Amino acid sequence: MAKTSIVSGFYKLPLKERLAIIKDFAGLTDEEIRLLENTGSLPFDVADHMVENVIGVFPEPLGVGVNFLINGKDYLIPMATEEPSVIAAAGYAAKMVRDGGGFHTSSTAPVMIGQIQIVGIKDAKAAKKQVLDAKAVIIKKANDQDQVLNSFGGGAKDMDAKILDTSLGQMLIVELYVDCRDAMGANAVNTMAEAVAPQLEQLTGGHVYLRIISNLATKRLAKAWCTVPKESLGGEAVVDGIAYASAFAEADPYRAATHNKGALNGIIAVVLATGNDHRAIEAGAHAYAALKGRYTSISKWTKNKNGDLDGVIELPMAVGLIGGAVKTHPIARIAMKILNVKSANEFGEVLAAVGLAQNLAALRALSSEGIQRGHMSLHARNIAVTAGAKDAMIDLVAAQMVKERKVRVDRAKEILDELCKKQ
Ligand code: MEV
Repeated sequence: MAKTSIVSGFYKLPLKERLAIIKDFAGLTDEEIRLLENTGSLPFDVADHMVENVIGVFPEPLGVGVNFLINGKDYLIPMATEEPSVIAAAGYAAKMVRDGGGFHTSSTAPVMIGQIQIVGIKDAKAAKKQVLDAKAVIIKKANDQDQVLNSFGGGAKDMDAKILDTSLGQMLIVELYVDCRDAMGANAVNTMAEAVAPQLEQLTGGHVYLRIISNLATKRLAKAWCTVPKESLGGEAVVDGIAYASAFAEADPYRAATHNKGALNGIIAVVLATGNDHRAIEAGAHAYAALKGRYTSISKWTKNKNGDLDGVIELPMAVGLIGGAVKTHPIARIAMKILNVKSANEFGEVLAAVGLAQNLAALRALSSEGIQRGHMSLHARNIAVTAGAKDAMIDLVAAQMVKERKVRVDRAKEILDELCKKQ
């Protein structure tokens, strides 16, 4: 008989009963159930309050990117990622950047955009004027929703409206500009957008559907830049290679997607470790990369007149020190303590610097020896573990596979067998 996925009241069941259902449905072993039950540093009751229908936690390795010097301040960067070589590469690049004086950064005020979609308007131009004439009243209504944010100097600061021609006719989009201070801001902005909707319907005679934050946070940008001495990179030919790589990404969306992914490898690892919303950052970065009508790179590298390498990155940075899982997740709290940033702006700037470092590491490797050598030696350890190697055997099996350039589970098993026989 086919199994059903309809489980009414699943969320009300205690963990044991939830696991019994999953065990039965998926045929999990007792050992697999034990792994799920062992939630370690994220206790079940905390996880259970974070999301729905919890049956376990999903641990990722948490590492630290070293060598970061940003605006003259030293940082250790907590990074959560499943990808080998990302954390090592960040520290390696940060070391080279340090030789050139470290990273420099800037950011705009932490302003997020809330969008309210109004449809069914007879005269969109007239409606737009009516909305803009009522700006003060609408902003006041928005600010009435969040006294705490106001008390910290944040809140709705401005608004605008635009007429969109869509496949379903014209619509009026009202945008609230909300200074979120040290919060990521989704809750504050969405609450405000929902609160002003009835007023907007009244003013325009239209109907409001969507009231939601935009992840294309063009008013909340972080920027980082650096100069890397050619000697630190291994000579002017490497500088040329990175500049060519950058020009390639700027010109070609297929390359830009991978180039940007390389920068996001670092950024997302930190965002994840600190319990922030990494999907928001990822969506914002890619949309920003396409903002001028063609998808391109979010960073740029050029050779300067001394033959050294100049790099710059800029992207939307909707991250917070409060809200979401930042304060509830015990490891995120520790990650935040390690990061030691005092404001969401400082946090965003550090993230931009990490992205630039990660991008540099990838381009340096790609434009010289290629990434497979370094990548494979780390990947080989994963494969050795998958093949059953333990303790000292992991490195022995990995080294042999790299030497043979055969990093595969079947080969790892053979090597492991041979080594075990010799013992
Ligand atoms: C792999 O995770 C990231 C890279 O592909 C980035 C890049 O190509 O620039 C190495």
